[in-house]
Amino acid sequence: MKKLVLDLDVGIDDTLAVAYALASPEVELVGITTTYGNVTTEQSTANALAVCALLGAPDVPVYPGLPCASFAEDFTVQPVSAFIHGKNGVGEVDVPASDRAPQGQGAVDFIVEAVHRWGKDLIYVPTGPLTNLDAAIAQDPSIVDEVGAVVLMGGALTVPGNVAPWSEANISQDPDAADRVFRSGIPATMIGLDVTLQTLLTYRETALWRETGTEAGKRLADITDYYIKAYETTAPHLHGCGLHDPLACAVAVDPSLVECLPINMMVDVEGPTRGRTIGNPELLNDPNKTMEVAVRVDVPRFLDEFMGRITRLVSSCQ
Ligand code: BDR
Ligand code: CA
Repeated sequence: MKKLVLDLDVGIDDTLAVAYALASPEVELVGITTTYGNVTTEQSTANALAVCALLGAPDVPVYPGLPCASFAEDFTVQPVSAFIHGKNGVGEVDVPASDRAPQGQGAVDFIVEAVHRWGKDLIYVPTGPLTNLDAAIAQDPSIVDEVGAVVLMGGALTVPGNVAPWSEANISQDPDAADRVFRSGIPATMIGLDVTLQTLLTYRETALWRETGTEAGKRLADITDYYIKAYETTAPHLHGCGLHDPLACAVAVDPSLVECLPINMMVDVEGPTRGRTIGNPELLNDPNKTMEVAVRVDVPRFLDEFMGRITRLVSSCQ
């Protein structure tokens, strides 16, 4: 069975990615590494522990990640992130804190160890900035050839960004790290805004989770409704919230949900377009493509899997 490691800035859609992973019998969620972005790394770690407990998986190990971007000395949550995800990252919903401590081992050491341990069976799914993965590659470059796959949520190739016309939120947090990861040769699939903004959720679906009557169902519905409400302000034309992070998780479980363009990618790190994800012109004619960028998604099939799996999961919880 494939082993999954999620790297999260928890985060409402990060929470939905955890739910999707736990609801997928095809994979085993062997660990969560945490990062900054929607919240601080510290808050993300606390949220990961709490969300796992809420969703009936109180034993998933959580490894604290790096606190800020590779070029920075600290990190402050942007007001827009608090607006979209709530100050606590889970839509201001009171998710009971877990009494479990995070692992003593840090995220970067764990990533290196996990790749050596599970090799091609390991799928690593970052749904925040790529700072932890970049540091792990710097620590042990051999993981590039050993890992099974990286399926990352971030970037935008054929559509504008969401924090700037050229830049998506996760990549813009640490463009330097993302550029190094993209150029490293690690086999990576980019699940960007090109596809994640086609997969939308509305109050109609979250009502089904609430109707299960379980604490998990009610709380997950409340958390997600906060996110849907924020989208009414930030992207009213969509009529729903973008299922960014759970789509990346779903593609890790079943790659046939998307169609991809094989391409060697890079990230602009200089000038006004810093943070743009784009093809690397120097490798345009290289027949060996190390990355794939998702450009089409089977929306009905993904939404069907998403709702079926997560509704079953919350029904079986307390
Ligand atoms: C990404 O940014 C974060 O706010 C979300 O959790 C998602 O990972 C979307 O651009
Ligand atoms: Ca995220």
